[in-house]
Amino acid sequence: MSDIEILPIDPLDAELVGAWITMQNAVIAHDTPGDAPYAVAHQRLRLALHPSAVDVERYVARIDGKVVGATELVLFLADNQHLIGFELEVHPDHRRQGIGTRLLEFVERRAAETGRDTLLTGVVDSVEDGPKMDHAGQAFAGARGYASVDNEIHRRNDLFAVDDDDLAKLYVDAWDKAAGYELIQWVNHAPDDLAEGIAAMRARMYTDPPMGEELDIRPAVYDVARVRDEERVCAERGELQLAAAVREVATGEIAGLTDILVFPGQEEHAGQNDTIVDPAHRGKRLGTILKIANQRLLRAYRPKLRYVHTWNAEVNTHMIAINEAIGYRRFCRDIEVQKKLS
Ligand SMILES: CC(C)(COP(=O)(O)OP(=O)(O)OC[C@H]1O[C@@H](n2cnc3c(N)ncnc32)[C@H](O)[C@@H]1OP(=O)(O)O)[C@@H](O)C(=O)NCCC(=O)NCCS
Repeated sequence: MSDIEILPIDPLDAELVGAWITMQNAVIAHDTPGDAPYAVAHQRLRLALHPSAVDVERYVARIDGKVVGATELVLFLADNQHLIGFELEVHPDHRRQGIGTRLLEFVERRAAETGRDTLLTGVVDSVEDGPKMDHAGQAFAGARGYASVDNEIHRRNDLFAVDDDDLAKLYVDAWDKAAGYELIQWVNHAPDDLAEGIAAMRARMYTDPPMGEELDIRPAVYDVARVRDEERVCAERGELQLAAAVREVATGEIAGLTDILVFPGQEEHAGQNDTIVDPAHRGKRLGTILKIANQRLLRAYRPKLRYVHTWNAEVNTHMIAINEAIGYRRFCRDIEVQKKLS
């Protein structure tokens, strides 16, 4: 095989960036059919802008000038400084030639150079009731010393198939159990009096959802400045962040939060981001209220957008019950794989 070169992606190299995105979408079409492709506009913007709580490095692997693979590394700065989260892919026409291995060696070298000892990534698994996925990632990760540490089910909601009357009934029933709370919704910039509560909720997302014992994700450091920084980056990348919170009227306390992200250039798929209800306020259907209200906000903003994607730990029965009730169905399993560098 000719020499492999691994080089950082220069966001201003339009041709290289175009080849990178084309390669990534060939991987999605081959490995996870039905998943959202990368929108070119969004990928170009993501190269230029990211939240200041992380560093992001992206590299392509080229052979004879052709992009055949790539990797993206997220280095946490505000917390989890032991960790690198990464993605790595090789074009379907160039597999089993050692390119993945070369990229992975490069990632592990960057981990050592940046003083990090934990590497975390995801590989796909098919579910009985979903499309047939390619399982090369599992074999590759296993062969390279990565252990499975957590499982999440990726669900997809086909909004065109959702029965609005069913949803309306669920919503009314939920409010019967949620007396004393109010709903607040916004797009991109949260009201000032909610920002502190939102920071606390975002931090909880690192510790509250059920996760595998070996998965080495540590508590987050979140404050209002981080919330505002993330909102700014979303807005500058042209992302639409549709959000909802519930607040206890008597205390003014934020009891729950959810948000959906719509990416520029992507008018068919959106992504569910965080959903969380504070433990002191659980069991009052606040999760159902949040999810339905936000799904409706999405329908109002993007009536022609068809799919929303979400990920839940297989054991997260409460969240899954809500998601199934509002139309989400199983798509595939994402297995988190981790390696500790000694
Ligand atoms: C996983 C992936 C990156 C592998 O890339 P690759 O260039 O084919 O990997 P390599 O040639 O370096 O394979 C190294 C070893 O992994 C294992 N492996 C890789 N693909 C495999 C497959 N389809 N079946 C069985 N074993 C496989 C083998 O042990 C292989 O060594 P061998 O070819 O000498 O038997 C590629 O299939 C891919 O992009 N998949 C989709 C994205 C993904 O899952 N990324 C994984 C993140 S860890």
